[in-house]
Amino acid sequence: MSVAKKQVKRVTTHILQGMKNEGQPISMITAYDYSMARIFDDAGIDVILVGDSASNVMAGHETTLPITLDQMIYHAQSVVRGVKRALIVVDLPFGTYQGDSKKALKSAIRIMKESGAHAVKLEGGEMILDSISRILKAGVPVMGHLGLTPQSIYKFGTYTVRAKEEAEAAQLIKDAQLLEQAGCFGIVLEKIPAELGKLASETLKIPTIGIGAGKHADGQVLVSHDLLGITKEFNPRFLRRYLDLYGEVKGAVEQYITDVKKRDFPSEKEQY
Ligand code: KIV
Repeated sequence: MSVAKKQVKRVTTHILQGMKNEGQPISMITAYDYSMARIFDDAGIDVILVGDSASNVMAGHETTLPITLDQMIYHAQSVVRGVKRALIVVDLPFGTYQGDSKKALKSAIRIMKESGAHAVKLEGGEMILDSISRILKAGVPVMGHLGLTPQSIYKFGTYTVRAKEEAEAAQLIKDAQLLEQAGCFGIVLEKIPAELGKLASETLKIPTIGIGAGKHADGQVLVSHDLLGITKEFNPRFLRRYLDLYGEVKGAVEQYITDVKKRDFPSEKEQY
């Protein structure tokens, strides 16, 4: 007798839109490998972002700029293997979409074909609208990213809060509306005043996902290594740490080293 497998209902961009319409907050987290993605999916996360923050937390670079398309595809493939329910969004890395919409489409198609992910994310508004429109016309769902866009860090000069001035705030709302009109299914808003996050979320029909954008965004995203306390030095105000995994892992490995040195490990029971 065959045992019927429990069907898991996949989160789609349409489901996210329904969540916004019904006022249900959307949960999103970054993942870069199979094992973590599997745990996050099992916990019930709605969206997994294969962020180019992999450049920082996985590869140890100072910025997100060095990570390549091949490396993003490798991370995305690993995440896809671990996930049954969450929608998987992958960042297009720096240099693979800016200023050349044909190149942008090729990059997005490589991600979709080679990783099996469900959508891509690009940083920027009006300036990259050509790239976004071309990708959308090919049937690839696109998520926008406005406010602090880490791929432009050398233009900004610092990682401080963006759009505090009226002109930049007005440009952000204009950009957000352009992304919505183009057909993006959602927009990440990073490190902007909470009032602006509220205004953007009320102005747009599509969901906003905040990271340091206040409580009125339609959803929240955090970098998993920050949330879990693996990164130690990064302490922005918006970050809530749910674990001190750095301390936990260090303590466990210290104990293991001690046990090996004392010949306490392996014990009689742990050998053949
Ligand atoms: O790359 C990333 O992790 C991101 C989040 C900060 C939203 O883009």
